[in-house]
Amino acid sequence: MEETLRSLRAMAESTRLRLLALFLRGDFTVSELVGMLGQSQPRVSRHLKILCDAGLIERAPEGSWVFYRLSQDRCRVELIRQILRQIPFDDSTIRRDIERLERVKEARNQAAAEYFRKNASQWDKIRTLHVDEQDVDNAVVSMMPEAASGTLLDIGTGTGHMLKLLGGRFERAEGVDLSHEMLALARANLADQGFDNCGVRSADMYQLPHDPESFDAAVIHQVLHFSDSPTLVIAEVARVLRPGGHVLMVDFAPHDVESLREEFQHRRLGFDDSEIGQLCAAHDLSLTDTHRLPGDPLTVVIWLATKSPMPRIDRDLSGSQSVLTA
Ligand SMILES: C[S@@+](CC[C@H](N)C(=O)[O-])C[C@H]1O[C@@H](n2cnc3c(N)ncnc32)[C@H](O)[C@@H]1O
Repeated sequence: MEETLRSLRAMAESTRLRLLALFLRGDFTVSELVGMLGQSQPRVSRHLKILCDAGLIERAPEGSWVFYRLSQDRCRVELIRQILRQIPFDDSTIRRDIERLERVKEARNQAAAEYFRKNASQWDKIRTLHVDEQDVDNAVVSMMPEAASGTLLDIGTGTGHMLKLLGGRFERAEGVDLSHEMLALARANLADQGFDNCGVRSADMYQLPHDPESFDAAVIHQVLHFSDSPTLVIAEVARVLRPGGHVLMVDFAPHDVESLREEFQHRRLGFDDSEIGQLCAAHDLSLTDTHRLPGDPLTVVIWLATKSPMPRIDRDLSGSQSVLTA
């Protein structure tokens, strides 16, 4: 009850209710919020701090920027929704805030589109080297186990393509990436197409900012070949997956297109099944399915691995007990 009261107290102020109404529609920096609310930066920052202290929103640093976003706690978000439902739809203050929010989104979309335009030709070139993307997408969707639901982590989310493809099957999906431009594109894409249960944040795949065992599933789509240490990435995925959780890894089979190193900074020219199998086995994951999409010159491979359903410590204990009782 104390926590609910603390949340209600934090919400019981007009600027903070306006802020929460905005956060239901996206993640924003302080300067964007200052523009939308028409209040001074110190004032907006003070309200943000109160909401953060009450656990209703959280800070998500991204390079030199800091985004604020709704808490990831479902109960708190439901409470916020319930309170905001009491405000009439045509409330003039909230409507004005939302009009300004649309202008912020429009500016973001324009910046994202400009970045995309500049880089699209490079990405198109890689696409011509392997099978149709739609075929890969179909295979990814069919390989993600039906039973996987709850939470999804998309590592190296880029423009958020995997979140759009798989996010709808999960209660909540989060994409992480280190590139500010990619995150801006993903944010614009997801907001435009109404993927309300999906969010993105800046994070390094070698040091994920998440608690152990906090996701039911993960996907790493065309990211491992950029890594100079895939084992560290897999170790992090295994750490944040729940026992019994699944990870889909999508990358190339071994190839000899050397130009990808120079032109596109690929560190690895593909992976073979045994390497992926060993990487998984070293981190408590077992390879449960593999699907190849042959192409010329690049073959795309999708590996599905599942984390052992029993926490390691229980298995070790039961192992030692059986030795004792033998
Ligand atoms: C080829 S893109 C793939 C994007 C997305 N998964 C897709 O398939 O549409 C690779 C992504 O990995 C991201 N990336 C590279 N190194 C990273 C790291 N250390 N941590 C997080 N993301 C990283 C890049 O910024 C880029 O967005």
